[in-house]
Amino acid sequence: MKQFDYLVLGSGIAGLSFALKVAPRGRVAIVTKKDRAESNTNYAQGGIAAVTSKEDSFELHVRDTLTAGAGLCKENVVRTIVEEGPARIAELIELGMKFSERDAPAEDGGRELDLGREGGHSKRRILHAKDVTGREIERALLNAASRQPNIEIFENHIAIDLITSQKFGLKDGNRCLGAYVFDKKSGGVETFAAPVTILATGGCGKVYLYTTNPDIATGDGVAMAYRAGASVADMEFVQFHPTCLYHPQAKSFLISEAVRGEGGVLKSLDGVEFMDAYHPLKSLAPRDVVARAIDSEMKKSGAEHVWLDITHKPARFIIERFPNIYQTCLRYGIDITKEPIPVVPAAHYQCGGVVTNVDGETDIAGLYAVGEVACTGLHGANRLASNSLLEALVCAHRAAEKVAAGVPPAVAGGILPPGATSGKMPDATFKIPLWQSGDAHNPDEMVVVSHNWDEIRRLMWDYVSIVRTNKRLARAQKRIANLQEEIHEYYWNFIVTSDLLELRNIATVAELIVRCALMRPESRGLHYNLDYPEANPEWAQRDTVLRKS
Ligand code: FAD
Ligand code: SIN
Repeated sequence: MKQFDYLVLGSGIAGLSFALKVAPRGRVAIVTKKDRAESNTNYAQGGIAAVTSKEDSFELHVRDTLTAGAGLCKENVVRTIVEEGPARIAELIELGMKFSERDAPAEDGGRELDLGREGGHSKRRILHAKDVTGREIERALLNAASRQPNIEIFENHIAIDLITSQKFGLKDGNRCLGAYVFDKKSGGVETFAAPVTILATGGCGKVYLYTTNPDIATGDGVAMAYRAGASVADMEFVQFHPTCLYHPQAKSFLISEAVRGEGGVLKSLDGVEFMDAYHPLKSLAPRDVVARAIDSEMKKSGAEHVWLDITHKPARFIIERFPNIYQTCLRYGIDITKEPIPVVPAAHYQCGGVVTNVDGETDIAGLYAVGEVACTGLHGANRLASNSLLEALVCAHRAAEKVAAGVPPAVAGGILPPGATSGKMPDATFKIPLWQSGDAHNPDEMVVVSHNWDEIRRLMWDYVSIVRTNKRLARAQKRIANLQEEIHEYYWNFIVTSDLLELRNIATVAELIVRCALMRPESRGLHYNLDYPEANPEWAQRDTVLRKS
């Protein structure tokens, strides 16, 4: 058994930020399922939204976030995160993060941060490192972590399940005691014990056939927390990014919204701009509107993609501002300075997740959740672009402060009711039982795992994506239940593999998305159901909360 003061699951912006904050106070294990940099964070392009310019204000950033969130954001949470953003950005710069800059008047120091613009933002407020912001964040945070002797990183280790007092029949509420972790290299399962565990496992894009997310995004954190008895909310709000590169060889390459922020325009295959028919902000309308508009245009015309055209901008500007997008498209034979980019919507971001307050506390004592895995109430029914990196930074800091203070949960606002966290530490005689798993090993049968993976991802894409109906949701629910039965049998009989663990998790997350979608009898933000095409005012501020009984 490995014993630490803090167990951090995930090495994206949320996990690393938290680890760096608590490391001066104790030993930290960071468990991460692939290479340490492999995360959604690493692929973030557009940047981090924060109020840093004189032209901008907290009030405007709050208003834009609430508008995008379509009536479901928790305003106190939005305010806290927006107002604490600039201080966290300053810390990130202090740690070594290099944001892009531009020339400024001499009286302002000659240089200033370059601010990008994205959909739904009324001002330029996106701090970025050209179009590779996430890669630069990971570099800076991992560098800082490597200088911290108290931090140990376990790569290629995948957390299987949280260890909770309730699971072992201990009374006095539910408390997280650590996690069982599969070591992909040795094939063994290890017990990581810690009084504080933080879920920073990111989102679940891989639940869908087409996604901008890398392979790590299988919703493990939400699935583990749900199995452990934590509340999970608002899973119906899956954000589809409007512009993923459409190319047979490109697995999941995003074309940043910043391209539209710098003047890129969406066009149908015959070269006609179509967004004026859908929203006054045209190509820079909130993401839910743009993704639905593209979906509708593609369905109307039978086209397999639409165009994103930025060729009217000077080539030098495009290459300088979007070097990664330019080079990647060029590798696929598309020169974006001369020709439009073929794009389609793809699953991108999980707005719901494990219910927390703004300090990252869940309703299981000792368990925190920060970043994309969490549902704080910031995003509501539709996340405002570039607010997720901001949320991860602010909430990781607040969670670290909370842990340090060691005070019981207070009323912090959001979805988690005050005082929801409970659960005493077991006494010293309690020993965490070792992991038990099946031992059957039949490689021929592994085809079932890959088949079920594909089936879930395809059925989620066909029945539970941008436009939904009750009938499609019910059909998906039935199919997922059948698949879960099969997975369950596999899970208990066979030795653990990472594919099987991820399959079990995407099946759970798919189930939760469908159940939340069926619970909401209206269309709001990212959840669009043809059977209830309008928003129902009674459902504004009502979250769809699920908890395992
Ligand atoms: P992640 O960065 O995804 O990190 C999750 C970590 O958990 C990874 O290290 C992973 O390996 C690990 N992990 C997962 N499961 C397990 C397990 N079972 N055991 C052990 N480890 C596990 N947001 C913005 O605000 N601005 C942007 O410009 C932006 N651009 C984006 C571009 C792309 C292509 C994508 C995919 C997302 C983008 N987003 C952007 C969203 C943003 O990147 C993510 O929401 C954010 O990075 C999530 O950070 P995180 O730390 O919560 O999770
Ligand atoms: C992008 O660069 O378009 C992604 C921004 C985000 O998801 O917030």
